[in-house]
Amino acid sequence: MSTPDPLPEYLRQSPAVAARFAKLKERPVVMEIDRLSRQFPGEHGPVTALRDISLKIHRRELVCVIGPSGCGKSTLIRIIAGLDEPTSGRMLVDGKETSGPSPERGMVFQGYTLFPWRTVKQNVLFGLEMAGRASSEAEADARQWIDLVGLRNFADNYPHQLSGGMKQRVAIARALAPNPRVLLMDEPFGALDAQTRAQMQSHLLEIWRNVDVTILFITHDLDEAILLADRIIVLKANPGEIQEVIEVSVPRPRSLEQLQSPEFQATRRRLDELIHPKLHAPAEHLPITRLTQVGDDVE
Ligand SMILES: Nc1ncnc2c1ncn2[C@@H]1O[C@H](COP(=O)(O)OP(=O)(O)O)[C@@H](O)[C@H]1O
Ligand SMILES: [Mg+2]
Repeated sequence: MSTPDPLPEYLRQSPAVAARFAKLKERPVVMEIDRLSRQFPGEHGPVTALRDISLKIHRRELVCVIGPSGCGKSTLIRIIAGLDEPTSGRMLVDGKETSGPSPERGMVFQGYTLFPWRTVKQNVLFGLEMAGRASSEAEADARQWIDLVGLRNFADNYPHQLSGGMKQRVAIARALAPNPRVLLMDEPFGALDAQTRAQMQSHLLEIWRNVDVTILFITHDLDEAILLADRIIVLKANPGEIQEVIEVSVPRPRSLEQLQSPEFQATRRRLDELIHPKLHAPAEHLPITRLTQVGDDVE
């Protein structure tokens, strides 16, 4: 007889998934976040947006960060991108401490940030120009990235001629073209309709399978995090701290059909508990007379 498994369901990994995580942890650490904190001056004294965040991300890992609005997700990714400074703590890429932005850390934002006066190709070339790449060689590279994101026939179009999903593909190509070590994405599909969003999720997974890049992806969509991530970092608010780190037990390759699988559902329930704890406060713990009073007006 086997002894009962002490692990909660969402943490149970099939042998194949466990083997994948074991291999992943043997890969070199590409990015290390070391006791990072960030305070902002507030009306009633300093506001701690992030407190003591530490995290090591391995090569070609895809890490999602989730958490309620205002828990410091954008602050964290902006600091990692070099667009903001921590109050304390450090960030290392390939073991070297970073300061300021660099092409080794590509960024994709939620809002559309393409240059409207540049064509698709010129937008992708921009990343290469910033990285100091010569333009004849850069041009060939840009074409390859545009092909990879499926926009070959749109290379000479302007952003206003593209759909939201296509614009974000260009933003991904622009961020990837300089060959960054890390791709940072802050709710990149947040403004897209559900169907386009689903397409972009599978598209990103396909790109990630083909490109040697480590991804840090911020979202507040729990299903999106489970679909994409190797590990999910759950932040809590006030101050923004790591609440839990979850190794996603859903096998790869992933697809939307797995949404109903037991692993997906168990992870989803755990994330719901962490992110929306009030929904799970059991009403039956209240005295029954407090739940409904006959004759009470609801409004
Ligand atoms: N530049 C800023 N100045 C002052 N407070 C800020 C600034 N940026 C963010 N904050 C505060 O830090 C906290 C985290 O914000 P943010 O990182 O945008 O959260 P999220 O992206 O998770 O919604 C919030 O309380 C926000 O008001
Ligand atoms: Mg944000």
